[in-house]
Amino acid sequence: MRTPVGIVGAGPAGLLLSHLLALRGIESVIVELRSRAYCEARQRAGVLEQGSADLLRAAGLGTRLDAEGLEHGGIYLQFDGERHHLDFRDLAGGRSVTVYAQTEVVKDLIASRLADGANLEFEVSGTAVADLDTGRPLLRYTAADGTRRELACDAIAGCDGFHGICRPAIPDRLRTVWERGYPYAWLGILAEAPPATDELIYARHPDGFALHSMRNLQTSKLYLQVEPDTRAEDWPEARIWQALQERFALPGWAVKEGPALDIAVTPMRSFVSAPMRYGRLFLAGDAAHIVPPTGAKGLNLAIADVTVLADALTELLLRGDHRLADAYSDTCLSRVWRSTHFSWWMTTMLHRTPGADPMEAALQLSQLRYVTTSRAASVTLAENYVGYPPLR
Ligand code: FAD
Ligand code: PHB
Repeated sequence: MRTPVGIVGAGPAGLLLSHLLALRGIESVIVELRSRAYCEARQRAGVLEQGSADLLRAAGLGTRLDAEGLEHGGIYLQFDGERHHLDFRDLAGGRSVTVYAQTEVVKDLIASRLADGANLEFEVSGTAVADLDTGRPLLRYTAADGTRRELACDAIAGCDGFHGICRPAIPDRLRTVWERGYPYAWLGILAEAPPATDELIYARHPDGFALHSMRNLQTSKLYLQVEPDTRAEDWPEARIWQALQERFALPGWAVKEGPALDIAVTPMRSFVSAPMRYGRLFLAGDAAHIVPPTGAKGLNLAIADVTVLADALTELLLRGDHRLADAYSDTCLSRVWRSTHFSWWMTTMLHRTPGADPMEAALQLSQLRYVTTSRAASVTLAENYVGYPPLR
């Protein structure tokens, strides 16, 4: 069998790439390990940069986003018993972000792809790629019905996340990896409780970081900094709410509590693998890079990568022009490194490093005070948070 583009992985990167290619008349096949129900239920990110939301709208995916997404014009930073507002519209040229969960983006994309008759195969196994340095790379997999298939492609997109098979298919000697682990993790709770805040609160507390986010006006999403090897079972709901109340404490204000819908622990890592292309294999999203979630960048980077890739593959496959494909890796890595730095900066400014000396806390507080009092410093945070450079 033949297809112009074989796509490994039906996360936001793979699904959106397939959609953008279809808009340009290019067919693709997506193969995904998990079931549709699993992909649609997986709890992950929640914030879309202005450029990501605009891109989804321009691609015809804005109906539910506009009806249910919550536009946020800023965030709160809390430290030393004070809560400060950063007004992104003022600081970042009128731009804002939209709170709309990754699960909803994925549901919209799957529904749209299936309605368009796309070839989207869930519950495959044994995915493998070969002949990547030729003009006819191969994608092999076992379909849900047990049939072994081989697809001859013009290009393969590795959108299979951090643990996928595509990045390791690039010879080690051709890859450079930068990696940093952090000595903490996030415990996330999705709760049936109205958010107690109109915009996200990022809080630095001597016990550790806390984040108050939301999914809609009835559902809150909150996170706590915990030890890296934490098991969710060690945090009964009462303990989670007590820690959240302590870390967000302000006179006359309290977190609204409610029954938990999901509790999970997320490790924290910065990771970049370059180049993002090998022959006719193009990596996109978490397959090539991971950021800690503090800057809300992971999903937005995946969207930015495939926006660049859709243009590059269109030029390559429809017009035989390889210039954008040749520039793909460098074009993406420039944004990837900006987001990698921003996520590292937000993370190290807001988290308690176990075993750190008192000087670290003093430096963090000085940085936070600078960010909330200097226009130059608050512009820096705001323009990175809403997306820098703006997605074209
Ligand atoms: P993924 O969403 O990982 O999709 C990859 C897909 O490929 C998956 O569906 C997987 O099943 C499939 N796959 C893997 N291997 C194969 C194979 N061999 N064959 C076929 N299919 C395969 N970002 C934030 O900004 N904020 C957050 O709060 C946040 N929380 C997160 C929590 C967790 C637990 C994780 C893992 C990530 C989180 N992220 C967060 C990051 C964000 O969700 C990711 O950056 C985003 O999902 C990247 O999209 P993607 O399509 O590149 O990869
Ligand atoms: C979320 O809503 O899940 C979320 C929001 C902002 C972040 C990370 C996660 O920085």
